[in-house]
Amino acid sequence: MKSSTLIRSTKKLVKEAMAGYDASHDWNHVKRVTSLAKNIAQAEGITNKDQLEIIELGAILHDVKDSKYSGSETASAETVRQFFLEQHYPQEKIDQVVYIVENVSFRKEGCATTSTIELDIVKDADRIDAIGAIGIARCMLFTGHKKRTMANAIDHFDEKLFRLKHLMRTESGKKFASARHDVMVSYIDQLRKELEFEV
Ligand SMILES: [Fe+2]
Repeated sequence: MKSSTLIRSTKKLVKEAMAGYDASHDWNHVKRVTSLAKNIAQAEGITNKDQLEIIELGAILHDVKDSKYSGSETASAETVRQFFLEQHYPQEKIDQVVYIVENVSFRKEGCATTSTIELDIVKDADRIDAIGAIGIARCMLFTGHKKRTMANAIDHFDEKLFRLKHLMRTESGKKFASARHDVMVSYIDQLRKELEFEV
């Protein structure tokens, strides 16, 4: 199967699987992460067609049946494996994409994961979309979706979002993250000041 045909079928699978997700983890998030991943790959000097294909497929599939929504830790990898087997995609490449999908999550940070450049790039792309102006909007959308409080949202910045800049793996990821991090710091600073008017 041609790479472009496989990528089109993969996008269709993901669009359908994520149709019911809230706007913090919807198809637009996937499109931005895929675009960021391609940008980072180019900036990192990756020209190998197979590597670029693994990165693009990993980015498109990185949140499919995510445990935050599916409630299952294995549904994501199982869905990806099953889909690629039906497409007769080579086993070695299936393993590489599944490796990205299984290890991209922030929850896996600190686990003894062997780093690959393909995983590093998708991780950085996903984390860049979690910070900056987009990150603020997504955090608030997810907080609302989960019916959590404003205080919970602010905690999420301290617990995760402010740490992401320091966890970037690629040089271009670090550059993207730096400006976005600063936007979040000044936003939360202002939000805290405005919240002081609560009685
Ligand atoms: Fe994501």
